[in-house]
Amino acid sequence: MTTVLPSLRQETNSTIQPNSLQNKTSSLDSLSPNQQLLPLTAIVNSKDHLEIGGCDVVDLVSQYGSPLYILDEVSLRTACQQYRDAFAKHYQGQAQVLYASKAWSCLAVCAIVGSEGLGIDVVSAGEILTALRAGVSPSLIYFHGNNKSADELSYALESGCTIVVDNWHELKTLAHLAQEQSLEVSFNAPRIMLRLTPGIECHTHEYIQTGHIDSKFGFDPNEIEAVFAFVAESSLNCVGIHAHIGSQIFELQPHQDIGGVMVQWFKLAGDKYGLKFSELNIGGGLGIRYVESDDPPSIEDWIKTVSAGVTDAFATAGLALPKLLCEPGRSLVGATCVTAYTIGGSKTVPDIRTYITVDGGMSDNPRPITYQSKYRAVVANQMSSSLSQTVTIAGKHCESGDILIKDIQLPETKAGDILVVFGTGAYNYSMASNYNRLPKPAAVVVGSGESSLIIKRETREDLLRQDCLPERLHQFTKV
Ligand code: LLP
Repeated sequence: MTTVLPSLRQETNSTIQPNSLQNKTSSLDSLSPNQQLLPLTAIVNSKDHLEIGGCDVVDLVSQYGSPLYILDEVSLRTACQQYRDAFAKHYQGQAQVLYASKAWSCLAVCAIVGSEGLGIDVVSAGEILTALRAGVSPSLIYFHGNNKSADELSYALESGCTIVVDNWHELKTLAHLAQEQSLEVSFNAPRIMLRLTPGIECHTHEYIQTGHIDSKFGFDPNEIEAVFAFVAESSLNCVGIHAHIGSQIFELQPHQDIGGVMVQWFKLAGDKYGLKFSELNIGGGLGIRYVESDDPPSIEDWIKTVSAGVTDAFATAGLALPKLLCEPGRSLVGATCVTAYTIGGSKTVPDIRTYITVDGGMSDNPRPITYQSKYRAVVANQMSSSLSQTVTIAGKHCESGDILIKDIQLPETKAGDILVVFGTGAYNYSMASNYNRLPKPAAVVVGSGESSLIIKRETREDLLRQDCLPERLHQFTKV
């Protein structure tokens, strides 16, 4: 029978060796994690179970419960190192990778990427707090968002973060703040960048395109001269410009083009408005492989392409190379994590389909219902069984659209089997909800045969933590 599983297993056997965090094999180093369906350390062990980071996934579920996010530390560190090393190899100027923490903001992920020398892109006070508590230097934290509150702006400025200014309202608020504080002895001009809409289209889901002109993010190109004139008159310390064109992008061309678009504005700012920019941030967006047919470029090819685009554009314009920043999220963390679920019942609708249900769904992975995203999965406790059925994996939420995977080939399953969905590191936990009052799952990090909890499982009591019952309603309660 031709099946999906043997190709996964073959990939596992042919490219992935057991390894330790300290002593990585060169074959692991050279694989670009964003091009893999499985985390780099995934193997099938002698019990015919899926093993990640030297830990048997079935045992992890027994120990930590289900559903469970399992993060492979080797994969995440390898992705960070590949971004960093590719810049060192392909870009002559200074460079800095910022992790777009919206993909998964939690202390452990921020601490791992921070320890690899990456900075962090944040979009809320919560993400700032997480990055700071994880030990990331505020000088490496860049604060985005199209409606930052006054409170968030003050928090970011007091912490020493750089603000990526999105619009006039924010620019004027910051200029006013800088003006008010400029006489104080301790005054530090707010360090800002300007987010511009580059007018570059790319092929991805329309909800996650951001670089086209009709976008809620960034200053419109028509306003740029007025913005530069305003900034030149202010006490703001504007260090450069930023653009982000979208997410889950497989083409290289749009990212190659960014340099050419941005350099004109870089030059204009200097020549006409005396603004001495030093930083250029070209955003994130490199895609990952969720299913076999996905074919994203490698991390190194992406960095090589953006570096060449920027280098050529700045040389042609006669400008010195800027400090080049990029802010990947999905391609750093997406393929490094899987979600393990416990299979419950099944339902066969004759001649139509068989539903297999799991103990999670759209609350821990809202991407299928939101973007019709596709995923791959295996049954972790029977990795070599033949794939004898085509089934649809249904979540447990009260919503017909709560389908995690449509028409996937799996072995015969029974209640209690462990289903593992790949590629759940990005925009899963960070977009998780408590819909139907399901507690959010736990997350563990694995490596060298050890596992550690990085996010505790929510309890039933946690779900009531923020609820308040007014006095006058107490008569209706029994407890
Ligand atoms: N920088 C900015 C300004 C962004 O808005 C984003 C993503 C990134 C960087 C990181 O992009 P990445 O490298 O992860 O593609 N929830 C959607 C994705 C939304 C992306 C939002 N912005 C999803 O699940 O596909």
